Amino acid sequence: MMYLLDTANIEQLRKCYDLFPVSGVTTNPSIISREKSNLKELFTDIRNIIGPESMLHVQVMGTSSEEMVREAKYLSSQITGNLYIKIPAVPQGIKAIKELTKLNMKTTATAIFTPQQALMAAAAGASFVAPYVNRLDNICGDGVEVLGEIMKFCKLYQLGTKVLAASFKNVEQVHKAALCGVHAVTVSAELMEQLLEHPLTWASVNSFKTDWEEVYGAGKLLTDVFNF
Ligand code: G3P
Repeated sequence: MMYLLDTANIEQLRKCYDLFPVSGVTTNPSIISREKSNLKELFTDIRNIIGPESMLHVQVMGTSSEEMVREAKYLSSQITGNLYIKIPAVPQGIKAIKELTKLNMKTTATAIFTPQQALMAAAAGASFVAPYVNRLDNICGDGVEVLGEIMKFCKLYQLGTKVLAASFKNVEQVHKAALCGVHAVTVSAELMEQLLEHPLTWASVNSFKTDWEEVYGAGKLLTDVFNF
C-alpha cells in the first residue's frame, strides 16, 4: 500500500519525505487555500521537495467539463513530473475524465462517496478513485464499508483503476482501509506520524538505552565499542 500526504505545507512535506516512504502528495482547493501562496511557486516548491517521480494530485476548479479540461491542460503545461488531475465525480467531471483519458492524461476522481461513483469513474478511465472515509463516518455512514465494496468491484471487474482512500482522521480508519486492500491512502502529516506511535515502542527503546549505557556509557554507538 502506498502512503501519500494530504497537504501542501512545505515544512510538513519536507519532514515527512525525509522520514517516511511517501509515494505522493494530494491537494484540494481547501488544502491549497490554507497555504496562501502564489500557486506557481507553491507547486514548484512541492515538486522540488518530492522529486519528479513522486505523484502530485492537483484538483481543478471548473464546473463544466470544458473548463476542467482547460485547467487540466494548463496544469500539465505548468507542473512538471508525475501529475494526476483531480476531478470531482460529478457528471461534468466524468465527461472531463473521459476526455482527458483520450488525451492520455492521468486523472483522479475525487469526492467519491459511493461504490457506483467509483465504478463510473473507473469506466470513464480514471487512474485513481478517491473515496472519503471520515466525511462518510461523520454522517453515520460507513467509509470502510464503501472502500470494501469498491475493492470488490476492482477484483470483480479487474479494474485498471486504483483506490486512493482519503479523508482520514484516525489510525483505526487507516488500519481498516489497509485491511480492505486499498492501493493507497492519503493522510495528513500528523496522522502519518501517528501511524507509528505506540507507547510500548518508546518504553522498549528507552529500556534498551538504559541497559546499554550502564555497560558502554552514554552516547556510545556500536561503531564506538565493537572492537574494544
Ligand atoms: O484530499 C481530499 C480528502 O482527503 C479530504 O479530507 O480531511 O478534508 O475530509 P478531509
